[in-house]
Amino acid sequence: MNTLIKTGVIGHPIKHSKSPLIHTYWLQHYGLNGQYEALDIPPEILKNKLPYLLQEGGYTGFNLTIPHKEIAFDLCDVLDPAAQQIGAVNTLIKRADGSIFGTNTDAFGFIQNIRQQKPDFDFTAGRAVVLGAGGAARAILYGLLQQGVREITLLNRTQDKAEVLAKALDPALIKTQPWADRDQAVRGAHLVVNTTALGMMGQAPLELTLQDLAPGALVCDIVYAPLMTDLLLQAQARGYETVTGIGMLLHQARPAFELWYGTLPDVTSDLERLVLS
Ligand code: ATR
Repeated sequence: MNTLIKTGVIGHPIKHSKSPLIHTYWLQHYGLNGQYEALDIPPEILKNKLPYLLQEGGYTGFNLTIPHKEIAFDLCDVLDPAAQQIGAVNTLIKRADGSIFGTNTDAFGFIQNIRQQKPDFDFTAGRAVVLGAGGAARAILYGLLQQGVREITLLNRTQDKAEVLAKALDPALIKTQPWADRDQAVRGAHLVVNTTALGMMGQAPLELTLQDLAPGALVCDIVYAPLMTDLLLQAQARGYETVTGIGMLLHQARPAFELWYGTLPDVTSDLERLVLS
């Protein structure tokens, strides 16, 4: 019997989430009997509400977004290594035995986006510079370490937060530097990643001069509104490779969809256009 599989994204607020658009597109594209909804649930009731939705509410699994990723981590019975290392859960599923399995697909999203857009990029060929030390940075650092990056310079406005992150993930490979030294830090870098919201529409710009990066260096931004941030425009003008932020959002959704619906979906230009429109 082809039973309806109900899933969704939980956040607070949730109305700006692109996830329903992405998953509903795939459900239709692959002809699957599923339903993906957006649920606005305040953090103080998630602990009681989540088990209820999975047990009595008929939901199979959820994505979690701000501010729920850390709370969800504590509500899972089983966590995969990505969720454990990142310290946050963005995808969960109720298993047949009733237990809740949690994972984090943000690192996968970041890496697969680069792999799709720049298949020849070699993560092990040089030093990476990561700007920011929030939740997104933590996932991206985990992803880079998984890819065998041997040296990472981490800069954050609040350097203490960068140090905590480096210590938690790999103090031998991740070195912090003061935020004010970022122009120097990117010199000779093979990869530069902005994980802060700087450069996003309505936010302050990211002030950074991309001078003397390694030949063939890649510059990535996780900001996708605008798609071409000032950072990426500057990188392009200086002849460096660039990868936009929208793909991370699209790719992080793929393993979640596979977990619930059994099909690893593709990221196509059609889907990208739909999400950006
Ligand atoms: P996310 O989960 O998206 O990573 P976050 O955890 O709130 O969001 O992290 C936001 C990041 O952007 C942090 O690294 C933050 O720096 P601080 O740790 O010093 O707060 C960075 N950020 C935000 N506004 C900034 C600004 N005006 N200048 C520099 N960095 C900024």
